[in-house]
Amino acid sequence: MVILHIISSNIDKEATQLMLKKCLFPVAGYGTRFLPATKSMPKEMMPVVDKPLIQYAVEEAMNAGVADMGFVTGRTKRAIEDHFDINYELEKEIAGSGKEQRLSSIRELMSACTFNYTRQHEMKGLGHAILTGRSLVGDNPFGVVLADDLCINPEGPGVLAQMAALFNQFRCTIVAVEEVPEDEIHKYGVIAGEAISDNIIRVTDMVEKPAKEDAPSNLAVIGRYILTPDIFDILEQTPPGKNGEVQITDAILTQAQQGCVLAYRFKGNRFDCGSVPGFIDATNYVYQNLFKG
Ligand code: UTP
Repeated sequence: MVILHIISSNIDKEATQLMLKKCLFPVAGYGTRFLPATKSMPKEMMPVVDKPLIQYAVEEAMNAGVADMGFVTGRTKRAIEDHFDINYELEKEIAGSGKEQRLSSIRELMSACTFNYTRQHEMKGLGHAILTGRSLVGDNPFGVVLADDLCINPEGPGVLAQMAALFNQFRCTIVAVEEVPEDEIHKYGVIAGEAISDNIIRVTDMVEKPAKEDAPSNLAVIGRYILTPDIFDILEQTPPGKNGEVQITDAILTQAQQGCVLAYRFKGNRFDCGSVPGFIDATNYVYQNLFKG
């Protein structure tokens, strides 16, 4: 009953707000697990078969109804801006040839969406990166997509679209979770909570990168979030946590304690493309199941 009360009062409060329109892509990290490949190239530009990770991420957001894309970038990341812009020489070179259709997916994104950028000068963690993106999203709910988690749902809407539908219903912060093996739990933020349906859990606790004996469950937060804008004031007050970084997990736990945060067990496959084995798995999956040549 308490849950329903909180949820319905959130709906009343925010009934006039629009659906999810904005998305942040924190892409400032160093990508050290892929050195030397990422020494001067953004890890988000690494191609899974024929498309860079960041394009999959932006396509997922566009398919969730988002048109306003904001990137928190850093040094060595300029290739991302160039990817979402016109390359006149190339366009002229291939105009009228069969190769032109290879640009159709990126052209579609560029005509449907706007792209804005801000720089994170010091890499002080994901929470700090999201706070840096405040000027791009303003006082609006927004999605956060970590491009190195490639999510593919072959049977229906993408993960952010699934979460956006839930957000329209509940109007509170939502994190995507999946079960991970015990020996991998130390890599993730991990939740505890009360199930309100098969796939939805009300979060009561969240721990960043716990030792397996301290993990409150085996449900790990993956790189998809929908955040309500009160997260920014909370992030401003959030001190550095695990590994000396400002952790988004800590700020979301504060939100959960002040109101309601939901964890959503999404439908689809997630590949950890920030790690070499996950990247190889994603490449094989896309090549075998999605690549059209
Ligand atoms: P990761 O820790 O997975 O990315 O951060 P990383 O630091 O680039 O990778 P490794 O561990 O060194 O290989 C998760 C996401 O948060 C972004 C990263 O770009 C990645 O998308 N991030 C992280 C930032 O934008 N800024 C930060 O200060 C930290």
